Amino acid sequence: MSQIQQLYEGKAKILYITDEPEILLAHYKDDATAFNAQKRGKITGKGEINCAIASHLFQLLEREGIPTHYIDCPAPNQMRVKRVKIIPLEVVVRNIAAGSLCQQTGLPVGKILPNPLVEFYLKDDALGDPLLTRDRLLLLDLATPEQVNLLQEEALKINQILIAFFGRCGITLVDFKLEFGLDSSQEMLLADEISPDTCRLWNQAETDPDKRVMDKDRFRRDLGNVEDAYQQVLAKVLSC
Ligand code: C5P
Repeated sequence: MSQIQQLYEGKAKILYITDEPEILLAHYKDDATAFNAQKRGKITGKGEINCAIASHLFQLLEREGIPTHYIDCPAPNQMRVKRVKIIPLEVVVRNIAAGSLCQQTGLPVGKILPNPLVEFYLKDDALGDPLLTRDRLLLLDLATPEQVNLLQEEALKINQILIAFFGRCGITLVDFKLEFGLDSSQEMLLADEISPDTCRLWNQAETDPDKRVMDKDRFRRDLGNVEDAYQQVLAKVLSC
């Protein structure tokens, strides 16, 4: 299999068409962006680290019965994935209040939510990825009511699997973002990536609110040691 032509360049990955029509090749980049790409930088080694973490998590989820786009990794920063049409939604699951939830509601950072919260954001950089209501989502024809139910169900299942997994690694899963797509037979697959770029992960061995951060918040908030934190997540993920 060889990469033929670039299909799309995103903020963290480049997607290539291959000589197999149903398979794309994703190159994970070291580039880091935050705040809708207003902040840009590089995290050395991030492409390989995130590719390895995402690969591990996709395989874990597949074993637990979650259909994903993952096939394999032909190189450390490359992932072969099933071609899907991405549903233009960011599905965010939250277990603990942080980030935009705190900014928009006044909830204190670190408040444990009584139940996991599932939110849908429109994947549209020009509009700043606005939070959607279910009715707005249906109004915009982004998914059918059945698909919305399935997205919600899958997101909650994935959350349970990941909470348990990260818990075994000594990491608290605060929140994370998922993207889904439809394959050529209209099956809904988990797509994009799951990594410290797309999750908030807190080290259970640290109580200090800044020291415990092992995810992209280190980059967003200039906390330093970003690559170190990503490496630590990888080491923990691979060892449990
Ligand atoms: O910023 P906010 O609190 O809404 O982010 C919730 C979760 O979704 C965080 O883990 C963040 O890293 C992730 N996210 C993402 N990509 C976005 C927006 C949020 O990975 N465009």
